[in-house]
Amino acid sequence: MKNLLVTGGAGFIGANFTQFMLNTYSDVTVTVFDKLTYAGNLENLASVSDDLRYQFYQGDICDAEAVDKAMRQFNIDAIVNFAAETHVDRSLMEPGSFIQTDVYGTFVLLEAAKNFGVERYHQISTDEVYGEVMTGRSTENDNLEPRSPYSASKAGGDLLCLSYFTSFDLPVTITRGSNNIGPYQYPEKVVPLFVTNAIDNKALPIYGDGSQMRDYQHVQDHCAGIDMVLRKGQVGEIYNLGTGEETTNLTMAQSILALLGKPESLLQPVTDRPGHDRRYAIDVSKAGALEWENRYDFAAAIDATVKWYVDNEDWWRKIKSGAAYKEYYAKNYSRR
Ligand code: NAD
Ligand code: TYD
Repeated sequence: MKNLLVTGGAGFIGANFTQFMLNTYSDVTVTVFDKLTYAGNLENLASVSDDLRYQFYQGDICDAEAVDKAMRQFNIDAIVNFAAETHVDRSLMEPGSFIQTDVYGTFVLLEAAKNFGVERYHQISTDEVYGEVMTGRSTENDNLEPRSPYSASKAGGDLLCLSYFTSFDLPVTITRGSNNIGPYQYPEKVVPLFVTNAIDNKALPIYGDGSQMRDYQHVQDHCAGIDMVLRKGQVGEIYNLGTGEETTNLTMAQSILALLGKPESLLQPVTDRPGHDRRYAIDVSKAGALEWENRYDFAAAIDATVKWYVDNEDWWRKIKSGAAYKEYYAKNYSRR
């Protein structure tokens, strides 16, 4: 596994992973294959753009010809698939692109992986495929009970991956991560949205009563976990990656306001998200047994994340001032 195809590598986690791999290993090359949707941003990869072990290929994972061309051109021996439509609220408004990219796109990549005989196909999945978990913690053997078009599409992708392991012996691994936070997250997701709104003294829209629980993991810890599964994971297996720490949306929002020295009067309850999953919680002991542990707890992760957005205003102001972002914001929040 020396020549990686990192699909979706211009997005939040994929860009962090690309940097992580190039900084950690001197003998890997990374080809980022990305469609550059609204969420893809080459500025996320600026720090590696001069690295001779890195190249960028613009393409759609649903386009088999483009995928094959990149596989051949860069002598790919492993695929790590981050490419996806990723935002639950958008999946409620326009589910079609989620099914197309997260299900059909995964199929196209699996076919390429099979035809080129890669050493590994790794699928980046999410704890949201387990659905809302009101008690206990989801283990990798639990039933999939996705409740949004986003999580249903991701679950479809996971099942296709497992079928290629069973039917074709494709060396597949899957990781199911919890909510990531950190540098380069598109400011539609709650943490960068709240941090950047708070910096501008704008309201923080809290869906419903704000008591929903998420496991917020720093993206660096997620990337280290994915790398560990690539090196030590068993093919055909799924590994949950998260912290095991639960935080309510209200606590998360209050932490952000406290770190920025902003008043709690910025908290604004708004109409809840339809079908809002109240709680995700995963058991991460299977990944832990592979000798991987988190470096950040919630307090350290949110502190580092807030600092990054304070220090990188140019990055997010460019996105938030764009017409596409403004249109999305109006569409999602005006009806609330
Ligand atoms: P993101 O939305 O920031 O980035 C997605 C990237 O995929 C973008 O660069 C986009 O241009 C690209 N892309 C989208 N459709 C494509 C297509 N058809 N062909 C090629 N590229 C395409 O997403 P993210 O938050 O970095 O998430 C990455 C992966 O991790 C996703 O699979 C997501 O389901 C999973 N995940 C995310 C989180 C989270 O908290 N963000 C948690 C667990 C799992
Ligand atoms: P989000 O970042 O969209 O991730 P996901 O829903 O995939 O876990 O949202 C995280 C939590 O924050 C979720 O419980 C919904 C809530 N939320 C708000 O309260 N207000 C917002 O404006 C957004 C985007 C999310």
